[in-house]
Amino acid sequence: MTAQKDFNDRMLSLGLARVSEAAAHASARLIGRGDEKAADQAAVNAMRDQLNMLDIKGVVVIGEGERDEAPMLYIGEEVGNGNGPEVDIALDPLEGTTLTAKDMPNALTVIAMAPRGTLLHAPDVYMDKLAIGPGFAKDVVSLDMSPAERVRALARARGCKDEDITVCILERPRHEEMIAEVRETGAAIRLITDGDVAGVIHTAEAELTGIDMYMGSGGAPEGVLAASALKCMGGQMWGRLLFRNDDERGRARKAGITDLDRIYARDELVTADVIFAATGVTNGSIVAGVKREPGYLQTETILMRSKTGSVRRMIYRNPVR
Ligand code: FBP
Repeated sequence: MTAQKDFNDRMLSLGLARVSEAAAHASARLIGRGDEKAADQAAVNAMRDQLNMLDIKGVVVIGEGERDEAPMLYIGEEVGNGNGPEVDIALDPLEGTTLTAKDMPNALTVIAMAPRGTLLHAPDVYMDKLAIGPGFAKDVVSLDMSPAERVRALARARGCKDEDITVCILERPRHEEMIAEVRETGAAIRLITDGDVAGVIHTAEAELTGIDMYMGSGGAPEGVLAASALKCMGGQMWGRLLFRNDDERGRARKAGITDLDRIYARDELVTADVIFAATGVTNGSIVAGVKREPGYLQTETILMRSKTGSVRRMIYRNPVR
């Protein structure tokens, strides 16, 4: 259930769009330049500058890493100008650094904001994720089902054949068995090389994107961002943290997580109303990428509020100086 906590989300949402736009603008000149780090750094710098102009007392809970690993936008960094509501910030200044460096689709700048203490402090480990769009009964699929069972359950709920379902999965060796099992059902698979925040969001607009379900493991921080987006769009999502060693389990405990096997539903990843903005860096099926025109850069941003379920797509054209 969503807790009712007010944080002036209506007015802050436009500010949030500015933050993600600025990060996309800054990384634009690095699209297709083969330099992931430089593209990420440009996005981080711009996002931080814009974030610090907002009237908030913000704390980064999902960011660029632990304080000793990331000089900026690290977990625990205070952001905003200090005049305003206390909020949690989850961000990924450049979601899809490799996509950007190689000029491949669906790289985004992403940020979410919610009242203080309401976004899961997900450690930097993997998360097993499952997501579907709006309009289905609660828990129609689950992380405890096998991949094939999920396909069959969703097909039944949609009233279609298994082969009419399309599943999005990150192309990784660790997903080979999952991919084979989904293929056995006859369902189609959209393999993506990176960018599972976009992968999950795709399920919320299945008619537009052709993707009905997202499954597989990816970054846990990205899981909280994806859950924020789906909470605004009405889809369902579940996540379970995955640990490869004691160091990773330690990271979770440090973040205050005691039940390491817990399955988090969307509203346990994000427990109150949230606002979410993502701007296209490279072209994608959710938003267009940065477009260069003589003297101008144009971006498209998706801006959403869970309280109202409103989804805006905003075009921003700005002179290049
Ligand atoms: P970066 O933008 O940090 O490169 O992350 C891209 C991404 O594909 C995420 O969307 C995803 O959650 C994660 O990497 C998957 O991790 P891995 O590449 O280790 O499978």
